[in-house]
Amino acid sequence: MSRGGVVLITGGGSGIGAGLAGAFHARRAKVILAGRTARRLEAVAARHPGMMVEVVDVADFAEVEALARRVAERAPDLDTVVNNAGIQHVLDFASGTPLDAAAIGREIDVNLKGVVQVANAFLPLLRRQPAARLVNVGSGLGYVPLAAAPIYSATKAAVHSFTISLRRQLRGTTVQVVELIPPVVETDLHRDQARRPPRAMALDAFTTAAMQGLDRGQEEIAVGLAKVLRTGSRIAPGLFLGIVNKQRV
Ligand SMILES: NC(=O)c1ccc[n+]([C@@H]2O[C@H](COP(=O)([O-])OP(=O)(O)OC[C@H]3O[C@@H](n4cnc5c(N)ncnc54)[C@H](OP(=O)(O)O)[C@@H]3O)[C@@H](O)[C@H]2O)c1
Repeated sequence: MSRGGVVLITGGGSGIGAGLAGAFHARRAKVILAGRTARRLEAVAARHPGMMVEVVDVADFAEVEALARRVAERAPDLDTVVNNAGIQHVLDFASGTPLDAAAIGREIDVNLKGVVQVANAFLPLLRRQPAARLVNVGSGLGYVPLAAAPIYSATKAAVHSFTISLRRQLRGTTVQVVELIPPVVETDLHRDQARRPPRAMALDAFTTAAMQGLDRGQEEIAVGLAKVLRTGSRIAPGLFLGIVNKQRV
């Protein structure tokens, strides 16, 4: 896809979403940052004049539908949606006491239901473009689960599966369905955790690799160690399960 265009990025107020937003903006794309916290979105937009800001909770389908209607009016040329919003909790099901059911539900709602809802609401608009992309952000942990983050890993495996199904359904249309698979990247995702994960990739390096994958038209963009996990999960799943979990627990 050529430079320019109109891109909507969920979770655009920080981390990977903000990094990709900056990269698209540098290519003269019109960027719409979507997220829950106006202050964070506006801080990113202030660094990149011309970006638009939309407050939305991707877990709330009424809000996502309303956003799709506003975008269809204000930016009818939308050709790329990056389904990036996500959260991660460390949860110990072996603790002997029931865990916070609301927190578990929330993680599923944001990471899986949110991705499905954004796809559902925006695909009709994307289908109208001569060339368009839906980019779902997965994780290396969708291929090899991190036991300490069991719901997160499960939702990312589900995002992988959902993306494959969407890609098949949209074969022969103008919409390319992409899975972007990050390794551990230096962002706020692990803010609630006592220990930051080791071997995090710098955000700039990740963003550069992700944009290169998009430029090449790849359907699955596995970056850095995520590529190793994706391959490892297929050829030696037990070995890689041990490696991922020994590092962290
Ligand atoms: N960093 C990593 O190591 C890593 C590795 C693999 C995959 N990923 C994936 O990359 C994506 C981005 O994560 P990140 O690392 O950049 O973390 P991050 O800095 O915490 O960004 C996540 C963004 O999602 C937004 N968000 C959370 N819940 C939302 C909701 N319900 N509706 C709308 N926006 C919501 C957050 O903003 P508000 O809270 O203001 O809404 C935040 O801007 C996630 O899908 C994550 O799973 C990250």
